[in-house]
Amino acid sequence: MAILVTGGAGYIGSHTIAALQERGEEVIVVDNLQQGHKEALLGGKLYVGDLRDEDFLDEVFKENDIDAVIHFAANSLVGESMKSPGKYYHNNVYGTLCLLEKMNEHGTRKIVFSSTAATYGEPENVPIDEYDRTLPTNTYGETKLAMEKMMKWYDTAHNIKSISLRYFNAAGAHESGQIGEDHHPETHLIPIVLEVALGKRPHISVFGDDYKTPDGTCVRDYVHVSDLADAHVLAVDKLLSGAESAIYNLGNGTGFSVKEVIDIARSVTVKEIKAVIEPRREGDPATLVASSERARNELGWNPRRSRLEDIIKSAWRWHEANPNGYKKND
Ligand code: UFG
Repeated sequence: MAILVTGGAGYIGSHTIAALQERGEEVIVVDNLQQGHKEALLGGKLYVGDLRDEDFLDEVFKENDIDAVIHFAANSLVGESMKSPGKYYHNNVYGTLCLLEKMNEHGTRKIVFSSTAATYGEPENVPIDEYDRTLPTNTYGETKLAMEKMMKWYDTAHNIKSISLRYFNAAGAHESGQIGEDHHPETHLIPIVLEVALGKRPHISVFGDDYKTPDGTCVRDYVHVSDLADAHVLAVDKLLSGAESAIYNLGNGTGFSVKEVIDIARSVTVKEIKAVIEPRREGDPATLVASSERARNELGWNPRRSRLEDIIKSAWRWHEANPNGYKKND
């Protein structure tokens, strides 16, 4: 019995593989290494290739006895998705279609899917629960919603059961210090703030301070990447024990503003971290905070690393030790 992890060399994928390894699971990894890093793999058998390459994917399924898939492989930059929607539909939506077809052909009927809070768009209610309206404000979120919906119809037609996990803001790094966040280009708040602390950037640009939030900057729900990893393992277990398809939010249920994040980073790093207020970034909702009651009750998910200070500490350990990410350090 093996678990196939697509996009396993990426940020959340690699932490999920670490969690699977700790349990002694047999892990197969598919990654085209366009954004992922080989060095991020703490285990698993790696196949370098693309989900849209039918012969390649066929080999992977033929050579391994795959019981369940955890599907991360996707493009995930909101800004880029607005400029190049075709890239996002092709890689994310068509890539998922190819994967589901291959799963059906080879009789693999369980899939855990890496979804996002971006499926909600500007929320009607805070905290957001899984029954709230989904109206994405960017192409990235729209493609993830399309992928979720595709899974629903593959369940109806082919009995492929799926659990979609809608993450809020993933952050932090593995406690071993061996793996962490390394995106090119980096667009996320916490790693950029830490790059300022490292002296790699002169300042952090705060995108807008005129939102309807207590201090005017956007509020987000930050969740430790290893807590997200644990949720994937629980979701695989649930599907393998015969559960029906479901969708779960994953967040801590507490919002922090951009200014609060910067302040906490200042105290963790003991660095000045210059901040400059700039115009709003297109497509950013003011507040995104999760209700994860459903994941807690039905998956038994219990995020253990929920203090933002600890999340930023773990990220800082990684960034300080690996200022150039997975590239050989100077
Ligand atoms: N921000 C800044 N300056 C920066 C970077 C970010 O002020 O240099 C702000 C953003 O405007 C936002 C907050 O910090 O208000 C968090 O931004 P991130 O880019 O770190 O994260 P997002 O909330 O935009 O995105 C995250 C995930 C996406 C997902 C989205 C759901 O990374 O994959 O949540 O809306 F789509």
